[in-house]
Amino acid sequence: MAKIVHGMGSPHVPSIGAAIDHHKEAEEYWKPFFDGIEPVRDWHKNNLPDTIILVYNDHASTFSLQTIPTFALGLADEFEPADEGYGPRPVPVVKGDPELAWHLANVLVSDEGFDLTLCNELDVDHGLTVPLSIAYNRPEAWPVKVIPLAVNMVQAPQPSVKRCYALGKAIARAVASFPGERNVAVWGTGGMSHQLQGERAGLLNVEYDAQFIEDLVNNPDSLEGLTYTELLRETGSEGVELAMWMIMRGALQPEVQEQYRFMHRPVSNTSYGVTILKNGEL
Ligand code: DHB
Ligand code: FE
Repeated sequence: MAKIVHGMGSPHVPSIGAAIDHHKEAEEYWKPFFDGIEPVRDWHKNNLPDTIILVYNDHASTFSLQTIPTFALGLADEFEPADEGYGPRPVPVVKGDPELAWHLANVLVSDEGFDLTLCNELDVDHGLTVPLSIAYNRPEAWPVKVIPLAVNMVQAPQPSVKRCYALGKAIARAVASFPGERNVAVWGTGGMSHQLQGERAGLLNVEYDAQFIEDLVNNPDSLEGLTYTELLRETGSEGVELAMWMIMRGALQPEVQEQYRFMHRPVSNTSYGVTILKNGEL
């Protein structure tokens, strides 16, 4: 039997990855952040799933503006860290779970009506590797398998928040019908408020982010009608990545047990917030 055991929402700020790769955790700028995520790491040590369905967005690292898949699923045996301009991050290769991934593809495309792009080769950028580093630090090999689910967040039109939430619910049904044994986690990455360009570059909206986490945990249906116009206005042009947290939340039960929440800002240009959710009914 396969079941979804936990969810996590976390930004994927690339400089967190650089701070870990270059051992900067004790520096004045980084210490409060890394102190705050120590409990994240402790929790994950004791709660390793077999496979993470890791929802992230590619930042024109693997896909370009020539081809923009709305939802893309990684089916390969392994995924190389992408070269984002400074060479690939010195992190382990990400091992996939093709058996579960193909089951998800079959159910989500043929039965559930989500027309996913299927990727047999996919280099993964900071959107995917930084959350792994936040949770697992610097291991020789990642302690879990990962199924990448890349969502277009970089070029309008993005999929609606409602569609993201519905995809999460479909993922829950697909996992439940998998004939094999798996403990599965679903992570939503990106956000929280940040804008990297234009007149409002540097925008943070900590109050909005705090309320978003609160609603995500305890009243997720209230977020279903959230529009990109509101996300753009309140959280900035890159803050719209928060929509991906709704895929994670949709994959969990309505009632969840929150294990840990931590907010800290700024982290680079981003207002950081993390929440770990244990599924209600197991
Ligand atoms: C930053 C955050 C992101 O989510 C990203 O993809 C790139 C940069 C930042 O805060 O610097
Ligand atoms: Fe991003």
